[in-house]
Amino acid sequence: MQKFKPQILTLKNQKTVTIREAEIDDAEKLLNCIKTYVPQSDYIPKLEQEIKLTIEQEKEWINYFLTNENSLLLIAEFENEIIGNIDLTGNRRKIMEHTAVIGMGMLKEWRNYGLGTALLKLAIEWAKENSILELLWLQVYTDNELGLRLYRKLGFEENGIMKNFFKQDGKYFDNLTMTINVK
Ligand SMILES: CC(C)(COP(=O)(O)OP(=O)(O)OC[C@H]1O[C@@H](n2cnc3c(N)ncnc32)[C@H](O)[C@@H]1OP(=O)(O)O)[C@@H](O)C(=O)NCCC(=O)NCCS
Repeated sequence: MQKFKPQILTLKNQKTVTIREAEIDDAEKLLNCIKTYVPQSDYIPKLEQEIKLTIEQEKEWINYFLTNENSLLLIAEFENEIIGNIDLTGNRRKIMEHTAVIGMGMLKEWRNYGLGTALLKLAIEWAKENSILELLWLQVYTDNELGLRLYRKLGFEENGIMKNFFKQDGKYFDNLTMTINVK
């Protein structure tokens, strides 16, 4: 059963994109999109060589969202290509099943045109209607200005910093946890 009704919207760059739930057949394109945007960002704590998922594993990952009621994976598409995604991974343990952690990203050329705002707004709206979810959370580098601006704008609150949590090329970065109540 479809969890999310596809949405069509025009971004600040005047391009029209579709936001829809990911399907198993999107695995290859989605993996390529993520493999492209991870090394294009200083604020995703994963090195290019650490993205080792096969297409089969990517299919399993997509299936997690299709089969877990407290989880959602949305993709943004432009002219049949996947340009970004947002995932709400609901916790599978009973005591934390009302919580989901958010991950999101997009190709560099699509940043700062409002796509992140659209993806996150739609994900929050979906979570508000979800019968299990009550709390969404995410972690963000305190230097990630676009991310921070977006999360604060949509109502996320700061919920603690782990100092020096990330270390890259001998430099340390702080990790901020942010949360939003959806009930
Ligand atoms: C972080 C990310 C998801 C945000 O999505 P996006 O589409 O670029 O964000 P939006 O365009 O919707 O919003 C960005 C906001 O930051 C603002 N902004 C831009 N530059 C800024 C700066 N230097 N300082 C503060 N705010 C800034 C924009 O004006 C916009 O705010 P507005 O809507 O009030 O005008 C996206 O940039 C991305 O994928 N980055 C790389 C991966 C990543 O960081 N993922 C998140 C990990 S937590």
